[in-house]
Amino acid sequence: MRKNIVAGNWKMNNDLAATKTLISELESQVKTRPDVSGAEMMIAPTFTNLMEASKLLKESDIEVIAQNMHFAENGAYTGEISAGMLKSIGVSTVILGHSERREYFNEDDAILKQKVDAALENNMRIVFCFGEKLEDRNSENHFNVVEGQIKNALFHLEAESWKSIVLAYEPVWAIGTGETASPEQAQEMHAFIRNLVASKYGESVSENVSILYGGSVKPANAKEIFSNPDVDGGLIGGAALDAESFMAIVNAF
Ligand code: 13P
Repeated sequence: MRKNIVAGNWKMNNDLAATKTLISELESQVKTRPDVSGAEMMIAPTFTNLMEASKLLKESDIEVIAQNMHFAENGAYTGEISAGMLKSIGVSTVILGHSERREYFNEDDAILKQKVDAALENNMRIVFCFGEKLEDRNSENHFNVVEGQIKNALFHLEAESWKSIVLAYEPVWAIGTGETASPEQAQEMHAFIRNLVASKYGESVSENVSILYGGSVKPANAKEIFSNPDVDGGLIGGAALDAESFMAIVNAF
């Protein structure tokens, strides 16, 4: 059965001191929760704070994950970080394909496919992000765009590899804008994605892959979004930078 997951993508926020503070606030929130939530928790701090975060949360229920990685194992790639380096500090899950990486750092499907392969070769789990821009939705091209993003980077994989894949649908027009996809829009796209995976790999794969929604998820709208049958959690940006609001979203399950 697929897992419910709530992951906080901290993006380029929080220096070391702020990272430690937020982690300790999250830990106290986790301890005082009345009951155990049905969702796995993940946080993705920046690269410079990953090692500290992963040490601090070693024994905790919160998994520390990376926001990105390079596809090469090592070499002349100034400023980049490899899967092996992440693994060596205890990080074994990575976000790939975030729309900000696609938009500002020119990551296309071909690059992402290489990153996916490198992560899997290193036995890492992948939170694979994709989603249409506003103009795609306005021109009713959103299903085509999402289909292409998934097929081009993931459909060369063997069925077995899908055990390490988490999908995250993040419509670009809903990221950091305060505008959320309606629960109906989210469910419609998530069902489309699950059918797409089923058409290639069959239901045993599609029913077991978690599909997260991301884009202006807040404590106030989390429950409604997560109550859709094909929405298995969220990838949270802004609201993940506050311990109370992140835990309120986790506890929406
Ligand atoms: P916001 O929750 O700030 O809209 O960001 C979503 C996101 O991009 C998570 O990866």
